[in-house]
Amino acid sequence: MKNELSLLTLTAVESKDTSHELKRMFLRAGVIALMSMTLSGCDAGGGGDTILVGEFASLTGKEATFGISSHEGTQLAIEELNAAGGVLGKKFELKTEDDQSKAGEPANVVNKLISKDGAIAILGEVASSRSLEAAPICQQNGIPMISPASTNPKVTETGDYIFRVCFIDPFQGTVMANFATNTLKAKKVAVFTDVKSDYSKGLAKFFKEGFTKAGGQIVGEFDFNGGDKDFKGQLTAIKSAAPDAVFVPGYYTDVALICIQAKQLGLNVPLIGGDGWESDTLVKIGGDAVEGHYFSTHYAADAASPKVTAFVEAYKKRYNGKVPDAMAALGYDSAMFLADAIKRAGSTEGTKLRDALAATKEFEAVTGKMAINAQRDAVKSAVILQVKGGAFKFVETVAP
Ligand code: PHE
Repeated sequence: MKNELSLLTLTAVESKDTSHELKRMFLRAGVIALMSMTLSGCDAGGGGDTILVGEFASLTGKEATFGISSHEGTQLAIEELNAAGGVLGKKFELKTEDDQSKAGEPANVVNKLISKDGAIAILGEVASSRSLEAAPICQQNGIPMISPASTNPKVTETGDYIFRVCFIDPFQGTVMANFATNTLKAKKVAVFTDVKSDYSKGLAKFFKEGFTKAGGQIVGEFDFNGGDKDFKGQLTAIKSAAPDAVFVPGYYTDVALICIQAKQLGLNVPLIGGDGWESDTLVKIGGDAVEGHYFSTHYAADAASPKVTAFVEAYKKRYNGKVPDAMAALGYDSAMFLADAIKRAGSTEGTKLRDALAATKEFEAVTGKMAINAQRDAVKSAVILQVKGGAFKFVETVAP
């Protein structure tokens, strides 16, 4: 801004020497300076007429359904909050950036949301690796970040400005280890990990710990890289290890291909996984091959709770009949959680907001009742779903 103004002064001085060309330059510079003044006047953050909330999400790329769902849920919450008058006498403005499911992009877009746009808080991301990239930036700037769905413990370990509205993987891993032991009666399990993903590596580790503690045996550990297309080598080796079940803590695109190739190879045991499975794309790609398998996640759209029913109805109405998945519910919860904390803080200032978020003892989320613990993680239940007839069916709820 300063530079443009001094350019304007300089041009004005030069324009004294009668040249028409210089006068035209002067006018142009003036218009540019005015335009940039107006633009920077919009960068109000919490200080203007609206409260600017930044969101980063994978709206395109490999995990696009994660980003689209969490964004739609977040947007619905913001619309409902604004329709009810907003908070502190102001409406919310949601600014969303697409990180394209790509490493490197979260840092870029979150820097921009904070430094250029003046966001008072950041909502995002679903995938743990991408939340881990943005968290240090929010921490350094003293801007609270709320991840809707990243379950790797390291995310909130980044610092005291980083929160989440979901449970963490030590819990999710134990839930699936107990399910394998008690419900599937599995004694031997093979684990197939995406070594490119912090989420997958963490969940594999916690599952193994839980399953061995419950008396089970890990009969094989195999790796893949997210984005691989051919898993036959590892799946053949898994088959010869003769497991009772295979734990695959991956994301839906890879998992669907793994299920297809497992079926082709005659590996006919239950495949089980975590929340990364949850996308209707799992069924679209996987078809028959994903039928009967199980995964843990954050909520069931077919659960009979009034809060879930109201959310599912509102979401379907807003998004052409689409049934909200877990990321959509968690995106919604992340924005509602933020608004609740702003109300309690009576402010959008970073430290006050952080303290209010940290002090949450009970919050009624669509994905269940939750409390924020000393690590800034949400303590709440998980659900287990089964793929049945091309849809996800509720099997059970597991309390922490
Ligand atoms: N928990 C996963 C992660 O941390 C992301 C995820 C959340 C995927 C919810 C699906 C549903 O990377």
